[in-house]
Amino acid sequence: MATSFEPVLLRNVGVKDSHTLKVYRARGGYEGLQKALALPPGDVVARVKDSGLRGRGGAGFPTGVKWTFLPKDHPGPIYMCINADESEPGTFNNRILMEDDPHQVIEGIIISSYATKAATAYLYIRVEYGLSFRRLQSAIDECYEAGLLGKNIQGKQGFHLDIHLHRGAGAYICGEETGLIESLEGKRAWPRIKPPFPAIEGVFRKPTIVNNIETMACVTHILDRGVDWFRSIGVPPDPSNPRDIGSLGPKLYCVSGHVNKPGCYEAPLGITVRELIDDFAGGVWKGRKAKACIPGGLSMGFLTEAEFDTRLDFNELQKKGCLGLGTAAVIVIDDQTSMIDVLYNSCRFFSHESCGQCTPCREGTAWMTKILARMRRGQGELSDLDQLAEIGGGIGLTPGTTICGLADGAAWPVKNAMQKFRPEFEEWIRSGRRSEDPLGELLAHH
Ligand SMILES: Cc1cc2nc3c(=O)[nH]c(=O)nc-3n(C[C@H](O)[C@H](O)[C@H](O)COP(=O)(O)O)c2cc1C
Ligand code: SF4
Repeated sequence: MATSFEPVLLRNVGVKDSHTLKVYRARGGYEGLQKALALPPGDVVARVKDSGLRGRGGAGFPTGVKWTFLPKDHPGPIYMCINADESEPGTFNNRILMEDDPHQVIEGIIISSYATKAATAYLYIRVEYGLSFRRLQSAIDECYEAGLLGKNIQGKQGFHLDIHLHRGAGAYICGEETGLIESLEGKRAWPRIKPPFPAIEGVFRKPTIVNNIETMACVTHILDRGVDWFRSIGVPPDPSNPRDIGSLGPKLYCVSGHVNKPGCYEAPLGITVRELIDDFAGGVWKGRKAKACIPGGLSMGFLTEAEFDTRLDFNELQKKGCLGLGTAAVIVIDDQTSMIDVLYNSCRFFSHESCGQCTPCREGTAWMTKILARMRRGQGELSDLDQLAEIGGGIGLTPGTTICGLADGAAWPVKNAMQKFRPEFEEWIRSGRRSEDPLGELLAHH
Protein backbone atom coordinates (compact mmCIF):
# COMPACT_ATOMS: atom_id res chain seq x y z
CA MET A 1 0.00 0.00 0.00
CA ALA A 2 2.75 2.38 1.01
CA THR A 3 4.73 2.30 -2.24
CA SER A 4 1.99 2.50 -4.95
CA PHE A 5 0.20 5.51 -3.51
CA GLU A 6 0.80 8.93 -5.07
CA PRO A 7 0.74 11.80 -2.53
CA VAL A 8 -1.76 14.51 -3.32
CA LEU A 9 -2.03 16.64 -0.18
CA LEU A 10 1.77 16.87 0.08
CA ARG A 11 2.49 16.98 -3.65
CA ASN A 12 3.76 20.57 -3.55
CA VAL A 13 5.79 20.24 -0.37
CA GLY A 14 9.48 20.57 -1.15
CA VAL A 15 8.86 22.41 -4.42
CA LYS A 16 10.60 25.81 -4.51
CA ASP A 17 8.24 28.69 -3.63
CA SER A 18 5.35 26.24 -3.26
CA HIS A 19 3.59 28.77 -1.03
CA THR A 20 3.19 31.33 -3.85
CA LEU A 21 0.21 31.73 -6.15
CA LYS A 22 2.45 31.57 -9.23
CA VAL A 23 3.86 28.15 -8.38
CA TYR A 24 0.53 26.81 -7.09
CA ARG A 25 -1.21 27.82 -10.32
CA ALA A 26 1.61 26.44 -12.48
CA ARG A 27 1.04 23.08 -10.80
CA GLY A 28 -2.69 22.99 -11.53
CA GLY A 29 -3.93 25.03 -8.60
CA TYR A 30 -7.39 26.66 -8.54
CA GLU A 31 -8.73 24.26 -11.20
CA GLY A 32 -10.95 22.69 -8.52
CA LEU A 33 -12.42 26.12 -7.87
CA GLN A 34 -13.14 26.67 -11.58
CA LYS A 35 -14.98 23.34 -11.69
CA ALA A 36 -16.91 24.19 -8.51
CA LEU A 37 -18.01 27.59 -9.82
CA ALA A 38 -19.46 25.91 -12.92
CA LEU A 39 -21.91 24.08 -10.63
CA PRO A 40 -24.74 25.36 -8.45
CA PRO A 41 -23.71 25.45 -4.75
CA GLY A 42 -26.06 22.55 -3.93
CA ASP A 43 -24.21 20.30 -6.40
CA VAL A 44 -20.90 21.10 -4.72
CA VAL A 45 -22.40 20.07 -1.38
CA ALA A 46 -23.68 16.87 -3.02
CA ARG A 47 -20.23 16.04 -4.40
CA VAL A 48 -18.56 16.47 -1.04
CA LYS A 49 -21.30 14.38 0.56
CA ASP A 50 -21.00 11.65 -2.11
CA SER A 51 -17.22 11.55 -1.69
CA GLY A 52 -17.64 10.24 1.86
CA LEU A 53 -15.13 12.82 3.17
CA ARG A 54 -15.02 12.75 6.96
CA GLY A 55 -13.61 15.68 8.92
CA ARG A 56 -9.88 15.43 9.61
CA GLY A 57 -9.96 17.48 12.84
CA GLY A 58 -10.62 14.59 15.19
CA ALA A 59 -14.23 13.46 15.30
CA GLY A 60 -14.50 12.21 11.70
CA PHE A 61 -17.95 13.69 11.11
CA PRO A 62 -19.04 13.52 7.42
CA THR A 63 -18.28 16.96 5.98
CA GLY A 64 -21.02 17.15 3.33
CA VAL A 65 -23.63 15.99 5.85
CA LYS A 66 -22.53 18.73 8.28
CA TRP A 67 -23.01 21.31 5.53
CA THR A 68 -26.61 20.17 4.99
CA PHE A 69 -27.41 21.03 8.63
CA LEU A 70 -27.26 24.75 7.78
CA PRO A 71 -30.77 26.27 7.75
CA LYS A 72 -32.18 26.45 4.22
CA ASP A 73 -32.55 29.91 2.64
CA HIS A 74 -31.16 31.63 5.71
CA PRO A 75 -31.61 35.42 5.30
CA GLY A 76 -28.72 36.50 7.53
CA PRO A 77 -24.99 35.77 7.34
CA ILE A 78 -23.53 32.27 7.30
CA TYR A 79 -19.93 31.84 8.43
CA MET A 80 -17.17 29.39 7.56
CA CYS A 81 -14.82 28.91 10.46
CA ILE A 82 -11.57 27.08 9.82
CA ASN A 83 -9.94 25.36 12.75
CA ALA A 84 -6.15 25.72 12.71
CA ASP A 85 -5.69 25.56 16.46
CA GLU A 86 -3.86 22.22 16.13
CA SER A 87 -3.11 21.69 19.81
CA GLU A 88 -3.41 17.91 19.99
CA PRO A 89 -0.03 16.59 21.15
CA GLY A 90 1.93 14.98 18.31
CA THR A 91 -0.09 16.72 15.59
CA PHE A 92 1.49 19.02 12.98
CA ASN A 93 -0.15 18.16 9.64
CA ASN A 94 -2.10 21.43 9.50
CA ARG A 95 1.12 23.38 10.02
CA ILE A 96 2.81 21.67 7.06
CA LEU A 97 -0.14 22.46 4.79
CA MET A 98 -0.32 26.10 5.89
CA GLU A 99 3.41 26.72 5.65
CA ASP A 100 4.18 24.89 2.41
CA ASP A 101 0.91 24.94 0.48
CA PRO A 102 -1.40 27.66 1.83
CA HIS A 103 -3.21 28.06 -1.50
CA GLN A 104 -4.34 24.43 -1.42
CA VAL A 105 -6.09 25.22 1.87
CA ILE A 106 -7.46 28.58 0.68
CA GLU A 107 -8.84 27.00 -2.49
CA GLY A 108 -10.75 24.53 -0.28
CA ILE A 109 -12.06 27.39 1.86
CA ILE A 110 -13.28 29.31 -1.22
CA ILE A 111 -15.01 26.20 -2.61
CA SER A 112 -16.57 25.39 0.78
CA SER A 113 -17.77 28.98 1.24
CA TYR A 114 -19.34 28.91 -2.22
CA ALA A 115 -21.08 25.62 -1.37
CA THR A 116 -22.39 26.82 2.00
CA LYS A 117 -23.15 30.38 0.79
CA ALA A 118 -20.85 31.93 3.36
CA ALA A 119 -19.49 35.38 2.53
CA THR A 120 -17.08 35.51 5.46
CA ALA A 121 -14.55 32.89 6.55
CA TYR A 122 -12.58 33.09 9.77
CA LEU A 123 -9.41 31.07 10.05
CA TYR A 124 -8.50 30.57 13.70
CA ILE A 125 -4.79 29.83 14.02
CA ARG A 126 -2.76 29.17 17.15
CA VAL A 127 -0.33 31.99 17.93
CA GLU A 128 2.73 29.72 17.96
CA TYR A 129 2.37 29.17 14.19
CA GLY A 130 4.18 32.33 13.05
CA LEU A 131 5.35 31.12 9.65
CA SER A 132 1.93 29.60 8.89
CA PHE A 133 0.29 32.90 9.75
CA ARG A 134 2.61 34.92 7.51
CA ARG A 135 2.35 32.48 4.60
CA LEU A 136 -1.44 32.40 4.84
CA GLN A 137 -1.71 36.18 5.03
CA SER A 138 0.48 36.69 1.99
CA ALA A 139 -1.46 34.00 0.08
CA ILE A 140 -4.73 35.73 1.01
CA ASP A 141 -3.30 39.05 -0.20
CA GLU A 142 -2.33 37.39 -3.51
CA CYS A 143 -5.88 36.04 -3.84
CA TYR A 144 -7.47 39.47 -3.43
CA GLU A 145 -5.18 40.84 -6.12
CA ALA A 146 -6.01 37.96 -8.48
CA GLY A 147 -9.78 38.20 -7.97
CA LEU A 148 -9.93 34.92 -6.08
CA LEU A 149 -11.25 36.72 -2.99
CA GLY A 150 -13.41 39.82 -2.66
CA LYS A 151 -16.49 40.62 -4.75
CA ASN A 152 -17.89 38.57 -7.65
CA ILE A 153 -15.08 36.05 -7.45
CA GLN A 154 -13.74 34.90 -10.84
CA GLY A 155 -16.61 36.79 -12.48
CA LYS A 156 -19.27 34.78 -10.62
CA GLN A 157 -21.92 37.41 -9.94
CA GLY A 158 -23.05 37.49 -6.32
CA PHE A 159 -20.27 35.27 -4.97
CA HIS A 160 -18.35 37.36 -2.47
CA LEU A 161 -15.89 36.14 0.13
CA ASP A 162 -13.53 37.66 2.68
CA ILE A 163 -11.12 35.56 4.73
CA HIS A 164 -9.92 36.87 8.09
CA LEU A 165 -7.06 35.32 10.05
CA HIS A 166 -7.51 35.27 13.81
CA ARG A 167 -4.65 34.31 16.11
CA GLY A 168 -5.41 32.33 19.26
CA ALA A 169 -3.36 32.59 22.42
CA GLY A 170 -2.26 28.98 22.71
CA ALA A 171 -4.74 26.87 24.69
CA TYR A 172 -5.79 23.33 23.84
CA ILE A 173 -9.44 24.06 24.53
CA CYS A 174 -9.46 26.73 21.77
CA GLY A 175 -9.50 23.79 19.30
CA GLU A 176 -12.88 22.56 20.54
CA GLU A 177 -15.23 24.12 18.03
CA THR A 178 -17.45 26.07 20.42
CA GLY A 179 -14.51 27.09 22.62
CA LEU A 180 -12.92 28.34 19.41
CA ILE A 181 -16.03 30.33 18.55
CA GLU A 182 -16.15 31.93 22.02
CA SER A 183 -12.46 32.84 21.69
CA LEU A 184 -13.03 34.25 18.20
CA GLU A 185 -15.76 36.44 19.66
CA GLY A 186 -13.24 37.84 22.15
CA LYS A 187 -14.26 35.80 25.18
CA ARG A 188 -12.65 33.10 27.31
CA ALA A 189 -12.68 29.82 25.33
CA TRP A 190 -15.33 28.05 27.37
CA PRO A 191 -17.07 25.41 25.25
CA ARG A 192 -20.81 25.86 24.84
CA ILE A 193 -23.45 23.33 25.77
CA LYS A 194 -24.74 21.61 22.59
CA PRO A 195 -27.29 21.65 21.06
CA PRO A 196 -27.54 24.10 19.44
CA PHE A 197 -24.64 23.01 17.25
CA PRO A 198 -22.65 25.65 15.34
CA ALA A 199 -24.45 24.90 12.05
CA ILE A 200 -27.54 26.42 13.68
CA GLU A 201 -25.94 28.85 16.13
CA GLY A 202 -22.20 29.48 15.81
CA VAL A 203 -20.10 32.60 15.35
CA PHE A 204 -22.04 35.64 16.62
CA ARG A 205 -24.94 33.16 17.12
CA LYS A 206 -25.27 32.79 13.32
CA PRO A 207 -25.15 29.51 11.35
CA THR A 208 -21.52 28.45 11.09
CA ILE A 209 -19.56 25.54 9.65
CA VAL A 210 -16.42 24.62 11.54
CA ASN A 211 -13.94 22.53 9.55
CA ASN A 212 -10.31 21.54 9.90
CA ILE A 213 -7.46 22.70 7.62
CA GLU A 214 -6.84 19.22 6.17
CA THR A 215 -10.57 18.83 5.52
CA MET A 216 -10.37 21.99 3.39
CA ALA A 217 -7.41 20.60 1.44
CA CYS A 218 -9.41 17.42 0.72
CA VAL A 219 -12.35 19.49 -0.59
CA THR A 220 -10.00 21.10 -3.14
CA HIS A 221 -9.07 17.69 -4.58
CA ILE A 222 -12.58 16.25 -4.51
CA LEU A 223 -13.73 19.08 -6.76
CA ASP A 224 -10.66 18.92 -8.97
CA ARG A 225 -10.18 15.15 -9.31
CA GLY A 226 -13.73 13.99 -8.68
CA VAL A 227 -15.75 11.88 -6.30
CA ASP A 228 -14.72 8.54 -7.84
CA TRP A 229 -11.04 9.36 -7.45
CA PHE A 230 -11.53 10.16 -3.75
CA ARG A 231 -13.63 7.04 -3.14
CA SER A 232 -10.99 4.86 -4.80
CA ILE A 233 -8.60 5.59 -1.89
CA GLY A 234 -8.87 4.21 1.64
CA VAL A 235 -11.26 1.77 3.28
CA PRO A 236 -14.64 1.36 1.53
CA PRO A 237 -17.87 1.03 3.53
CA ASP A 238 -18.58 -2.40 4.96
CA PRO A 239 -21.40 -3.80 2.72
CA SER A 240 -22.76 -5.85 5.65
CA ASN A 241 -23.27 -2.66 7.68
CA PRO A 242 -25.61 -0.14 5.97
CA ARG A 243 -24.65 2.56 8.49
CA ASP A 244 -20.92 2.35 7.75
CA ILE A 245 -19.63 5.09 5.46
CA GLY A 246 -16.06 3.82 5.38
CA SER A 247 -12.83 5.76 5.78
CA LEU A 248 -12.14 7.23 2.37
CA GLY A 249 -9.45 9.40 0.84
CA PRO A 250 -5.84 10.28 1.55
CA LYS A 251 -4.68 11.17 5.06
CA LEU A 252 -1.72 12.96 6.58
CA TYR A 253 -0.14 10.94 9.38
CA CYS A 254 2.23 12.63 11.82
CA VAL A 255 4.73 10.23 13.37
CA SER A 256 6.79 11.27 16.39
CA GLY A 257 8.37 9.80 19.48
CA HIS A 258 10.87 6.95 19.38
CA VAL A 259 11.29 6.46 15.63
CA ASN A 260 14.24 7.03 13.33
CA LYS A 261 12.48 9.42 10.95
CA PRO A 262 9.74 11.43 12.64
CA GLY A 263 7.67 13.43 10.15
CA CYS A 264 4.40 14.01 8.36
CA TYR A 265 3.57 11.32 5.80
CA GLU A 266 0.69 10.90 3.36
CA ALA A 267 -0.96 7.52 2.84
CA PRO A 268 -4.46 6.18 2.26
CA LEU A 269 -6.75 5.92 5.26
CA GLY A 270 -6.40 2.40 6.61
CA ILE A 271 -2.62 1.98 6.61
CA THR A 272 -1.55 -0.02 9.67
CA VAL A 273 0.49 1.41 12.51
CA ARG A 274 3.26 -1.07 11.73
CA GLU A 275 3.41 -0.06 8.04
CA LEU A 276 3.56 3.58 9.03
CA ILE A 277 6.40 3.06 11.51
CA ASP A 278 8.45 0.64 9.37
CA ASP A 279 7.80 1.83 5.80
CA PHE A 280 7.71 5.58 6.43
CA ALA A 281 9.25 6.47 9.79
CA GLY A 282 12.33 4.24 9.50
CA GLY A 283 11.41 1.89 12.35
CA VAL A 284 11.86 2.20 16.11
CA TRP A 285 14.99 4.14 17.10
CA LYS A 286 18.26 2.88 18.61
CA GLY A 287 17.53 -0.68 17.52
CA ARG A 288 14.94 -0.98 20.28
CA LYS A 289 11.47 -2.49 20.21
CA ALA A 290 8.27 -0.55 20.63
CA LYS A 291 6.19 -1.04 23.73
CA ALA A 292 3.16 1.03 22.75
CA CYS A 293 1.93 3.92 20.67
CA ILE A 294 -0.56 6.70 20.92
CA PRO A 295 -2.42 6.18 17.63
CA GLY A 296 -4.31 9.41 16.95
CA GLY A 297 -3.10 12.23 19.13
CA LEU A 298 -2.77 11.88 22.89
CA SER A 299 -6.51 11.90 23.62
CA MET A 300 -7.18 8.68 21.70
CA GLY A 301 -5.47 6.34 24.21
CA PHE A 302 -2.88 3.60 23.66
CA LEU A 303 -2.23 0.59 21.46
CA THR A 304 0.15 -2.12 22.65
CA GLU A 305 2.90 -3.29 20.29
CA ALA A 306 0.90 -6.47 19.71
CA GLU A 307 -1.89 -4.26 18.31
CA PHE A 308 0.30 -2.47 15.73
CA ASP A 309 -1.38 -4.31 12.82
CA THR A 310 -4.52 -2.29 13.53
CA ARG A 311 -5.68 -0.15 10.60
CA LEU A 312 -5.59 3.60 11.14
CA ASP A 313 -9.14 4.36 10.07
CA PHE A 314 -12.36 5.63 11.62
CA ASN A 315 -13.61 2.16 12.71
CA GLU A 316 -10.76 -0.12 13.67
CA LEU A 317 -9.19 1.78 16.56
CA GLN A 318 -12.41 1.72 18.55
CA LYS A 319 -12.42 -2.05 18.24
CA LYS A 320 -9.08 -1.99 20.09
CA GLY A 321 -10.54 0.10 22.91
CA CYS A 322 -9.20 3.47 21.69
CA LEU A 323 -11.41 6.55 21.47
CA GLY A 324 -11.03 6.80 17.68
CA LEU A 325 -8.69 7.91 14.89
CA GLY A 326 -8.46 11.48 16.20
CA THR A 327 -5.84 13.42 14.29
CA ALA A 328 -4.03 10.23 13.15
CA ALA A 329 -0.87 11.47 14.89
CA VAL A 330 1.12 8.43 16.00
CA ILE A 331 3.51 8.83 18.95
CA VAL A 332 5.74 5.78 19.34
CA ILE A 333 6.89 4.68 22.82
CA ASP A 334 9.91 2.36 23.07
CA ASP A 335 10.32 -0.56 25.46
CA GLN A 336 12.62 1.35 27.80
CA THR A 337 10.03 3.99 28.59
CA SER A 338 7.91 3.82 31.73
CA MET A 339 4.17 3.87 31.10
CA ILE A 340 3.84 5.45 34.55
CA ASP A 341 5.81 8.46 33.27
CA VAL A 342 3.85 8.53 30.02
CA LEU A 343 0.50 8.46 31.80
CA TYR A 344 1.58 11.06 34.35
CA ASN A 345 2.63 13.38 31.54
CA SER A 346 -0.69 12.81 29.75
CA CYS A 347 -2.76 13.54 32.87
CA ARG A 348 -0.67 16.60 33.69
CA PHE A 349 -1.31 17.98 30.20
CA PHE A 350 -5.09 17.53 30.35
CA SER A 351 -5.32 18.83 33.91
CA HIS A 352 -3.45 21.95 32.86
CA GLU A 353 -5.64 22.40 29.76
CA SER A 354 -9.05 21.74 31.37
CA CYS A 355 -11.03 24.96 31.12
CA GLY A 356 -12.51 24.26 34.54
CA GLN A 357 -16.20 24.68 33.73
CA CYS A 358 -17.23 21.11 34.59
CA THR A 359 -16.38 19.76 38.05
CA PRO A 360 -15.76 16.15 36.88
CA CYS A 361 -13.19 17.34 34.34
CA ARG A 362 -11.54 20.02 36.46
CA GLU A 363 -11.28 17.89 39.61
CA GLY A 364 -10.96 14.49 37.92
CA THR A 365 -7.98 15.42 35.77
CA ALA A 366 -6.20 17.03 38.74
CA TRP A 367 -6.96 14.03 40.96
CA MET A 368 -5.57 11.53 38.43
CA THR A 369 -2.44 13.67 38.06
CA LYS A 370 -1.90 13.73 41.84
CA ILE A 371 -2.28 9.95 42.11
CA LEU A 372 0.26 9.41 39.34
CA ALA A 373 2.67 11.96 40.82
CA ARG A 374 2.54 10.05 44.11
CA MET A 375 3.11 6.79 42.24
CA ARG A 376 6.19 8.30 40.59
CA ARG A 377 7.54 9.19 44.03
CA GLY A 378 7.37 5.50 44.98
CA GLN A 379 4.32 5.99 47.20
CA GLY A 380 1.65 4.33 45.06
CA GLU A 381 -0.82 1.76 46.37
CA LEU A 382 -2.46 -1.03 44.41
CA SER A 383 -5.88 0.45 45.20
CA ASP A 384 -4.80 3.55 43.23
CA LEU A 385 -5.24 1.56 40.02
CA ASP A 386 -8.92 0.91 40.63
CA GLN A 387 -9.28 4.53 41.68
CA LEU A 388 -7.72 5.72 38.40
CA ALA A 389 -10.00 3.43 36.38
CA GLU A 390 -13.03 4.71 38.26
CA ILE A 391 -12.18 8.40 37.79
CA GLY A 392 -11.36 7.79 34.12
CA GLY A 393 -14.67 6.00 33.66
CA GLY A 394 -16.67 8.83 35.19
CA ILE A 395 -15.56 11.90 33.27
CA GLY A 396 -16.43 12.94 29.74
CA LEU A 397 -19.17 13.11 27.15
CA THR A 398 -19.27 9.32 27.04
CA PRO A 399 -20.56 8.93 30.62
CA GLY A 400 -22.45 12.23 30.07
CA THR A 401 -20.84 14.28 32.83
CA THR A 402 -19.11 17.10 30.93
CA ILE A 403 -19.77 19.80 28.35
CA CYS A 404 -17.03 18.83 25.90
CA GLY A 405 -14.78 15.98 24.85
CA LEU A 406 -11.57 17.20 26.51
CA ALA A 407 -12.46 15.06 29.50
CA ASP A 408 -12.88 11.96 27.30
CA GLY A 409 -9.45 12.70 25.88
CA ALA A 410 -8.04 12.86 29.40
CA ALA A 411 -9.83 9.68 30.46
CA TRP A 412 -8.98 7.43 27.51
CA PRO A 413 -5.21 7.10 28.07
CA VAL A 414 -5.96 6.29 31.73
CA LYS A 415 -8.62 3.69 30.87
CA ASN A 416 -6.41 2.08 28.20
CA ALA A 417 -3.36 2.05 30.50
CA MET A 418 -5.33 0.36 33.26
CA GLN A 419 -6.64 -2.27 30.82
CA LYS A 420 -3.53 -2.86 28.74
CA PHE A 421 -0.54 -2.07 30.99
CA ARG A 422 -1.83 -2.89 34.47
CA PRO A 423 0.93 -5.46 35.23
CA GLU A 424 3.59 -2.76 34.66
CA PHE A 425 1.82 -0.43 37.09
CA GLU A 426 1.40 -3.22 39.67
CA GLU A 427 5.07 -4.15 39.43
CA TRP A 428 6.05 -0.49 39.81
CA ILE A 429 3.94 -0.09 42.94
CA ARG A 430 5.02 -3.38 44.54
CA SER A 431 8.70 -2.61 44.01
CA GLY A 432 8.33 0.93 45.39
CA ARG A 433 10.23 2.31 42.41
CA ARG A 434 10.72 6.03 41.96
CA SER A 435 10.82 7.77 38.60
CA GLU A 436 14.16 9.07 37.39
CA ASP A 437 12.64 10.88 34.47
CA PRO A 438 13.30 14.67 34.44
CA LEU A 439 9.53 15.13 34.64
CA GLY A 440 10.16 14.57 38.34
CA GLU A 441 11.28 18.19 38.54
CA LEU A 442 7.68 19.13 38.03
CA LEU A 443 6.42 17.05 40.93
CA ALA A 444 6.60 20.04 43.22
CA HIS A 445 3.40 21.27 41.57
CA HIS A 446 1.50 18.24 42.80
C1 LIG B 1 -10.68 19.36 23.44
C2 LIG B 1 -10.82 19.38 21.95
C3 LIG B 1 -9.82 19.94 21.17
C4 LIG B 1 -9.95 19.97 19.78
N1 LIG B 1 -8.94 20.53 19.04
C5 LIG B 1 -9.07 20.58 17.68
C6 LIG B 1 -8.05 21.19 16.89
O1 LIG B 1 -7.03 21.67 17.40
N2 LIG B 1 -8.25 21.23 15.54
C7 LIG B 1 -9.40 20.73 14.95
O2 LIG B 1 -9.56 20.82 13.73
N3 LIG B 1 -10.35 20.14 15.68
C8 LIG B 1 -10.22 20.08 17.03
N4 LIG B 1 -11.23 19.51 17.76
C9 LIG B 1 -12.45 19.05 17.05
C10 LIG B 1 -13.38 20.25 16.78
O3 LIG B 1 -14.23 20.42 17.89
C11 LIG B 1 -14.26 20.00 15.51
O4 LIG B 1 -14.86 18.76 15.61
C12 LIG B 1 -13.46 20.09 14.21
O5 LIG B 1 -12.73 21.28 14.11
C13 LIG B 1 -14.44 20.00 13.04
O6 LIG B 1 -13.74 19.97 11.82
P1 LIG B 1 -13.79 18.71 10.86
O7 LIG B 1 -15.23 18.26 10.79
O8 LIG B 1 -13.28 19.21 9.56
O9 LIG B 1 -12.92 17.65 11.48
C14 LIG B 1 -11.12 19.44 19.15
C15 LIG B 1 -12.12 18.87 19.95
C16 LIG B 1 -11.97 18.82 21.33
C17 LIG B 1 -13.06 18.19 22.14
S1 SF4 C 1 -15.03 18.97 29.77
FE1 SF4 C 1 -13.32 20.07 30.70
S2 SF4 C 1 -12.52 21.35 29.07
FE2 SF4 C 1 -14.57 20.68 28.40
S3 SF4 C 1 -15.96 22.30 29.09
FE3 SF4 C 1 -15.86 20.82 30.75
S4 SF4 C 1 -14.20 21.56 32.10
FE4 SF4 C 1 -14.00 22.61 30.15
